[in-house]
Amino acid sequence: MDGIRTLIWTLPLIAWASLRLLAQPLDVFDHPPGSYLGAGACAACHAEQFAQQSTSGHALSLHRIGDHPSATSFAPAGAVARAGGAKYTYRLVEDGLHVEVSAGEEKSRSRLEWAFGAGEQAVTFVGQVDEDRYVEHHFSYYSATGGMGTTPGHSEGAPRGPKDALGVYYGTFGAQPSIMRCFQCHSTGPLALGEAFSLQPNELGVRCEACHGPGRPHVEAVASGELERASAAIANPARLRSGQLLERCGACHRPPASSGKVIDWSDPWNVRHQPVYLSRSACVQARGQPLSCMRCHDPHTPLSTEAARDNVRCLDCHHTGRRPATVCRQDVSRSCSSCHMPPVRPQDELRFTNHWIGVYDAGNPLRPREPSEEGSP
Ligand code: HEC
Ligand code: HEC
Ligand code: HEC
Ligand code: HEC
Ligand code: HEC
Ligand code: HEC
Ligand code: HEC
Repeated sequence: MDGIRTLIWTLPLIAWASLRLLAQPLDVFDHPPGSYLGAGACAACHAEQFAQQSTSGHALSLHRIGDHPSATSFAPAGAVARAGGAKYTYRLVEDGLHVEVSAGEEKSRSRLEWAFGAGEQAVTFVGQVDEDRYVEHHFSYYSATGGMGTTPGHSEGAPRGPKDALGVYYGTFGAQPSIMRCFQCHSTGPLALGEAFSLQPNELGVRCEACHGPGRPHVEAVASGELERASAAIANPARLRSGQLLERCGACHRPPASSGKVIDWSDPWNVRHQPVYLSRSACVQARGQPLSCMRCHDPHTPLSTEAARDNVRCLDCHHTGRRPATVCRQDVSRSCSSCHMPPVRPQDELRFTNHWIGVYDAGNPLRPREPSEEGSP
């Protein structure tokens, strides 16, 4: 009787929640679910983009744990200890990563199902706890050390028992649907609800239609020989102005600071929001040639350090004769970006690149010398 009453109470709530779920604002392409075809559907005609993109950090940014390329490293042989005495033992099984947490006399067992992050730097584990909650596991895998370390943002202090030790809990629905947002930025197309209110991504990783929008109208137009309509039916970021492009990439990498939003430039974690920092550079703010992400990154390939750091990127604009001139008196045989886009380490195992191009004083890689003032053109 009680069960039925709960059901009657919760059904409308869930219906409401799932409507909200499917209408999340992050989907900049407002289309019905069936119009997303998946990257495999693009491969037949865009073989090169497909082959390269499939090996990128974007494509690999979400896996079921067992399918992750580094999966075998996720279950270290011995127990992993944490301050305050909690111990974690891992077992990689077909349906996920089983973790047994013991704290004091108490023990608990849980299953983690999702691996976020390609493993370039880190992989964070997420699992569903019950019909209402997900957990982000306390330990992440770091490729710099080849082992487990505290997940960014988690307390290093002693846990209050094994449940607390497991990690940080998020409601599936509710005012702060943080877990939903993890899936939105790390997958492609709309999210659906599965059995027991589990979140079901349409396609794992950031694939073609995350940047190009749903492909069905495009593919149908090509099939019927209407090339002009085919071209119009698919979003091509090449047609965007550079400011709009920063917004498009910023949908996940965080958009350039909108006026009025206060950014704490002394917080090293903010450096991972590249559009926010790049848009502060004098190089971008000046009129003339635009400086978009694509000048240094090919959106269809894995991150290439050599390509991104190639001085050609800078000398395209900073050549002598015209403004801005190459007037750098420093050792320009080195990579310009090694001094003008310094690395920042918000935590030992992680390294991000400060995209605010400028002149940095030794010892402060967070903010350049004489920064341009807020709101300058
Ligand atoms: C049946 C073959 C075919 C498939 C499948 C296909 N495309 Fe295309 N695509 C084309 C052709 C042909 C063009 C060139 C159209 C033109 O501009 O004349 C094109 C052009 C494009 C363009 C450039 C559009 C422009 O003109 O600005 C993008 C972007 C694109 N496709 C993305 C995709 C994505 C993403 C998918 C998968 C969802 C996909 N395509 C699937 C054949 C295909
Ligand atoms: C749907 C969300 C989303 C969008 C849109 C997006 N990114 Fe990303 N991007 C990610 C995620 C998630 C990662 C982390 C990949 C990983 O797990 O290492 C990433 C990683 C990257 C990397 C590092 C890639 C690597 O192989 O290590 C670059 C460079 C990058 N993005 C550039 C861009 C640019 C440029 C755009 C716009 C054209 C863009 N991104 C749009 C979500 C997105
Ligand atoms: C607003 C979009 C967004 C949300 C929400 C989001 N991510 Fe990401 N995530 C990114 C982007 C972009 C990157 C690549 C740049 C970076 O490393 O910060 C990334 C990178 C990562 C990485 C790889 C770090 C590395 O560089 O190797 C992990 C792990 C990760 N995210 C886990 C999560 C988890 C877990 C959640 C939810 C608690 C989450 N993300 C929520 C956009 C997002
Ligand atoms: C991170 C965002 C992103 C993802 C993911 C992505 N693209 Fe693109 N794509 C772009 C951008 C940006 C351009 C415009 C390139 C430019 O201006 O240099 C583009 C251009 C294109 C074009 C036009 C021809 C060209 O290369 O300029 C095609 C075709 C295309 N993409 C197909 C694909 C296919 C197929 C996939 C999946 C395998 C894919 N894209 C995944 C961002 C993306
Ligand atoms: C799209 C053109 C363009 C590109 C590409 C570009 N810059 Fe600039 N950069 C500019 C302009 C314009 C200015 C403003 C110069 C002025 O006011 O005379 C500038 C200013 C600067 C300044 C002075 C910063 C300040 O705060 O006063 C530095 C340092 C700099 N650029 C370095 C670089 C480096 C290093 C690269 C490559 C990683 C680069 N730029 C790429 C156009 C560009
Ligand atoms: C002037 C060149 C340049 C531009 C423009 C640029 N990047 Fe980068 N980016 C780099 C360099 C250099 C690296 C470091 C590469 C390395 O050492 O592996 C990098 C690294 C990254 C990474 C890996 C994580 C990190 O912080 O090291 C991401 C993600 C990324 N860029 C995203 C973007 C996005 C999104 C944009 C547009 C807002 C953008 N970049 C514009 C040069 C650039
Ligand atoms: C060894 C570190 C280092 C390298 C490498 C380097 N720079 Fe610089 N750059 C500086 C410093 C420091 C300044 C501040 C002026 C000074 O002290 O000479 C500067 C100044 C500048 C300025 C601003 C000049 C002005 O008067 O406003 C530009 C533009 C610039 N560099 C571009 C470049 C370019 C382009 C490259 C690569 C070809 C490069 N730099 C390589 C350290 C470096």
